[in-house]
Amino acid sequence: MSIQACIFDLDGVIVDTAKFHYIAWKEMATGLGFDFTEKENEWLKGVSRMRSLDILLEIGKVTKSEEEKRLLAESKNERYLEFVRRMSEEEILPGVTRFLDDLRSNGILIALGSASKNAPLILERIQLMEKFDVVVDGNSVLKAKPDPEVFLKCAELLNVEPGLCLVFEDAQAGIEAALNGGMKVIGVGSPDDLSYADHFIPGFKKLDYELISRWYV
Ligand code: BG6
Ligand code: MG
Repeated sequence: MSIQACIFDLDGVIVDTAKFHYIAWKEMATGLGFDFTEKENEWLKGVSRMRSLDILLEIGKVTKSEEEKRLLAESKNERYLEFVRRMSEEEILPGVTRFLDDLRSNGILIALGSASKNAPLILERIQLMEKFDVVVDGNSVLKAKPDPEVFLKCAELLNVEPGLCLVFEDAQAGIEAALNGGMKVIGVGSPDDLSYADHFIPGFKKLDYELISRWYV
């Protein structure tokens, strides 16, 4: 097969933390006096915390100083962490653990490529850290998706050519980051919401090594 490594986004791919991010941002929007819909939340997926805040403030047409933004981002994160601290292995999305084990037993290297600074905490909460050969997250990259930095760093650490890496992403910015890095990409979600991926899957329940080895001969 022409794939040697699989790189997984975290939020919305391994766990459904997107719902927690949404609740925390929505509460902030309400506090600032405007509405924030689930559709608008799509624009925040995959992008860094500070960029997400900027998008949110643009939606509400609210202007804040750099210091006020720092405090707002901090308070959103505190609210988000209240949910994260309650997470357990049960939050791992269906089929994920089986698929990771299937890849490993077929000699595929596995990385996590996430924009989140909370990725290590989440992996620890759901006890999935040991499944990854490499973890690259928001603490170690400078440029946010759709810049390919996070995924290229995974490839470099795994010592695998970008063209032999397959990325799993639920965010449009993430799909574009993978393509910008010259990688293959499977969109996790509906093609109604996402574009440009090679294939789309609703989740990992029906995915196995056999199928991806047919997709990427
Ligand atoms: C991404 C999420 O994985 O991480 C974004 O899709 C989030 O919604 C970003 O804003 C940053 O996360 P965190 O945990 O560092 O605030
Ligand atoms: Mg995501």
